[in-house]
Amino acid sequence: MCGIVGYVGKRPAAPILLDGLGKLEYRGYDSAGIAVCDSGKIQMKKARGRLKVLSELTHDGEIFPGHVGIGHTRWATHGEPSDVNAHPHFNADNSIVVVHNGIIENYLKLKKKLIEKGYKFISDTDTEVIAHLLDYYYHGNPMQAIIKIMHRMEGSYALGILFKDHPEELYAVRKDSPLIVGHTRDGCIIASDVPAVLKYTRDVYFIENEEIVCMRQDSMEFFNVDEEPIEKEPTHIEWDVDAAEKGGYEHFMLKEMYEQPRAITDTFSPRIKGREICIEELAMSDEEILNIKKIMIVACGSAYHAGVTGKYVLEGMARIPVEVDLASEYRYRNPLIEEGTLTIIISQSGETADSLAALRDSRERGAKVLGVVNVVGSSIAREADNVMYTWAGPEIAVATTKAYSCQLIALYLLAMKFAQVRKTISDTELGGYIEDMKRIPDQVEMLLNNKNRIQKFANRYLAARDVFFIGRGIDYAISLEGSLKLKEISYIHSEAYAAGELKHGTISLIEEGTLVAAVLTQENLYKKMISNMVEVRTRGAFVLAVTNEGNHEIRKAADYVIYIPETNQYFTNSLAIIPLQLFAYYISVGKGCDVDKPRNLAKSVTVE
Ligand code: G6P
Repeated sequence: MCGIVGYVGKRPAAPILLDGLGKLEYRGYDSAGIAVCDSGKIQMKKARGRLKVLSELTHDGEIFPGHVGIGHTRWATHGEPSDVNAHPHFNADNSIVVVHNGIIENYLKLKKKLIEKGYKFISDTDTEVIAHLLDYYYHGNPMQAIIKIMHRMEGSYALGILFKDHPEELYAVRKDSPLIVGHTRDGCIIASDVPAVLKYTRDVYFIENEEIVCMRQDSMEFFNVDEEPIEKEPTHIEWDVDAAEKGGYEHFMLKEMYEQPRAITDTFSPRIKGREICIEELAMSDEEILNIKKIMIVACGSAYHAGVTGKYVLEGMARIPVEVDLASEYRYRNPLIEEGTLTIIISQSGETADSLAALRDSRERGAKVLGVVNVVGSSIAREADNVMYTWAGPEIAVATTKAYSCQLIALYLLAMKFAQVRKTISDTELGGYIEDMKRIPDQVEMLLNNKNRIQKFANRYLAARDVFFIGRGIDYAISLEGSLKLKEISYIHSEAYAAGELKHGTISLIEEGTLVAAVLTQENLYKKMISNMVEVRTRGAFVLAVTNEGNHEIRKAADYVIYIPETNQYFTNSLAIIPLQLFAYYISVGKGCDVDKPRNLAKSVTVE
């Protein structure tokens, strides 16, 4: 996730910017840059790669003696990691400079308008649009230009802005991306996160949505979007640097689980336009979509589990046959690819060796390949014919949570798009799915807020030896992921079974007190699942059920019930997985395991 730092004060800005950016390194980044206002000029340096490169280029900031500046570490979203795409971004005559964290959803529309007005673009970023848009509206008053662009931009942003004509001022504004400000002993500092400012102050102001801050060496003024001054109270930060990196959460995994509502919104909102699904990056005409004969989903780990859900959703909604493969199996099985095959490779890192090999194999055999990838510019993103990015931001915990949730959203969007074009669902149905999708972030948040109850339950199972997850249909896919989460971070043996398979062997493993987590979100399968739950319960299992609100029958067959809010049959995974993530997390915490870095596992598996 991008990191922003800005400073105005008595001291040279550049070393403070570099130091602050260093404290934001944990957020993940691929390039960095700083801009400093000095002797009536804005000077800038930026570079792909580690912060060290930028420090060397600027002699630890010494080449820029100015006292007002902004800095940025970039996690690529629009445009691959490169020097040109790195922030800050200038307007044409280098009199306005911007750093940005977030996604401007209507940037293409704005860019088109600006190009028509004669503006020239040198990068692929959405941020450069902001610099030119500010230029367009700037007539000597920075505040008015900022307010004008706030009315034009859709999406999320935290911005740090300098104007050459106002060399003593630093401006900041935000909507849906974090930004904090604080007084240092000799000036003001802004940052996207607390670790960057802790060295200078422990009293920070959290900028709220659509608030603007104008900072000078000795003043800090807050305004609303009507340019009215606002009074704000600072918050005293007690956290140490380590806790601050995790935003006050005990682990990155918990922080990332809490980032899910935002990540999910970022993934769907640019792709829903009114009652239409627009996935521009798919680059497929309606005719091509109509001609898809088969979809092959290939991935590893949790991405594979997202793919299993994708099969049910794509087949159910769009009525296209779907095969799902583990990439390590696919690459050696000599798959049959006919004309009209679309291969979807799902990968958070975009670097998984088996997934990359499967991509190449599939292309060679003549399939069109779509990557569903989180890391912009990664190998899978580069080699796929087209890429649909998940906007989860960087994930640090080895056990994926938010990237997995965004992969599900990407697959739902594809299913909705294909179903819309192939007319396998009505406009009313599509409208209903869109409404349901927009409700997911709040529903996820509600489930996350139920964490204390799940923690209490988890604490009873710290000594468990085996846990079984069962489900049918999409619920089987949820069980696969729930089980993987548990085993990877708690080291408790767990298995996921299609509930109907129990009687073919697994049921012999059920003993008195064995925990069985039953997932039932598919109404048409309730009865079948309840029979399976009774089967294991009568053999001594303790049954935890995750089911839809309103399924009161469940009490007859379960010992403990977690309800998920109402959604349609296809989107239930996005909700049911939340309590299972929390369950795995609290077992791991309770057992004292290394939650974020479980033994023997790597976040990105670049070897076979
Ligand atoms: C590793 C990670 C998993 C991930 C899998 C696939 O095993 O620990 O969380 O699901 O790789 O990674 P990818 O980056 O391709 O999604």
